[in-house]
Amino acid sequence: MKKKICLLGSTGSIGLQTIDVISKFPDKLELVSVASYGKNIHIVLDQIKRFNIKKVAIFNEQEALNLKRIVGNDVKVLVGQDGLVELVLDDEVDIVVSAIVGFVGLLPTYEAAKKLKRIALVNKESMVVGGHLFRPYLNNIVPVDSEHSAIFQCIDGKREYLKEIILTASGGPFFNIPYEKWENLTLQDALNHPVWKMGAKITIDSATLMNKALEIIEAYFLFNIDYQNIKVLIHPNSIVHSFVVFRDGSYLAQLGLPDMRLPILYSLSYPERWENDFEKLDLVKIGNLVFYEVPSKFRAVNLAYSVLSKGGVYPVIFNAANEQAVNLFLEQKIRFIDIVKLVEEVLSIFSDDNIENPNIEELKYYDNWARNAAINLAVKSKIFYG
Ligand SMILES: NC(=O)c1ccc[n+]([C@@H]2O[C@H](COP(=O)([O-])OP(=O)(O)OC[C@H]3O[C@@H](n4cnc5c(N)ncnc54)[C@H](OP(=O)(O)O)[C@@H]3O)[C@@H](O)[C@H]2O)c1
Repeated sequence: MKKKICLLGSTGSIGLQTIDVISKFPDKLELVSVASYGKNIHIVLDQIKRFNIKKVAIFNEQEALNLKRIVGNDVKVLVGQDGLVELVLDDEVDIVVSAIVGFVGLLPTYEAAKKLKRIALVNKESMVVGGHLFRPYLNNIVPVDSEHSAIFQCIDGKREYLKEIILTASGGPFFNIPYEKWENLTLQDALNHPVWKMGAKITIDSATLMNKALEIIEAYFLFNIDYQNIKVLIHPNSIVHSFVVFRDGSYLAQLGLPDMRLPILYSLSYPERWENDFEKLDLVKIGNLVFYEVPSKFRAVNLAYSVLSKGGVYPVIFNAANEQAVNLFLEQKIRFIDIVKLVEEVLSIFSDDNIENPNIEELKYYDNWARNAAINLAVKSKIFYG
């Protein structure tokens, strides 16, 4: 029987790669529904035609109306946050690929998890802000982030012996640029990732290493491990996707070319492994694999540990402040160097009593609070030059 897939974020970098993977396995996988914001309706239309899709969700109301006008009654077009939720809850769906970017991915991912759907988790932000909510459903979640996919594969069947996780990071475009020069880094510099071709938000997160900070928090919730036992190494080759260390001191790693289609495929084929025509790793051609400590200029990484030591609503505040700071940087309203500073400031002014295991409404409230706080602080400290 074919596995039926609902793809959230079908027009993005991961969405398009997921489409590529699905199209290579027509007798095993079937794309039944897609969702996106609505910025790329022409791509959605292509996907509807190519896969004969009958259900779509578009977040933006106006774009949803435009699409409805084109597709008529042949295709059900759902709208907004409720539309995303209705799409994932469809009985027909076996696997939800959650590849939307940002906090907005939380609700549909959580609702799908509650309905016991298999989740191919790409939207790391939902695990960062609501990791505690996903605890009862971890057995149905297969991570797609290359690092977490690596760890998931390495600990398969050996989870109880896991002692330490070592996440690898490419180092991004600024690994070799001294902090004194960061004042002058431009948006173009930051969007120019040396290894991965990805959406804008994660590309900026990779330049600040906020991406690794988010991944530390993601790993903490996904693998239920003491955060002090999650380490990071810079590995510019991006071939070793992560290591695990077992109690006896033995290391296991997963290696592969930097191609997201492999972890995407594994999340869909799991627990099986399917032959494919992707380019394979040639270790001799790659040559030396190198690893470095994380330089102290990447302050985002330490922030993750501080956020986890406080827990409660700190992860959602951390994530929202970062999302807002990245938006401001993408709009060229703040400088690159201000992104992490702004997140640090938002965290430092938070003075409410912390809440253990916040519910969805509380998460929304603090997400909103942190976004506003980031803007207000940027204006007040005059780093906002829009
Ligand atoms: N790219 C990678 O290699 C990679 C690797 C690991 C993890 N991830 C994670 O995967 C997620 C997606 O990253 P990406 O690089 O694929 O991002 P992207 O290229 O920017 O794509 C984002 C997708 O989300 C959709 N979207 C945005 N806001 C939405 C909303 N409110 N409702 C519904 N859909 C919405 C976009 O639709 P429109 O096209 O209409 O805007 C688009 O389809 C992120 O959480 C990222 O951290 C990405």
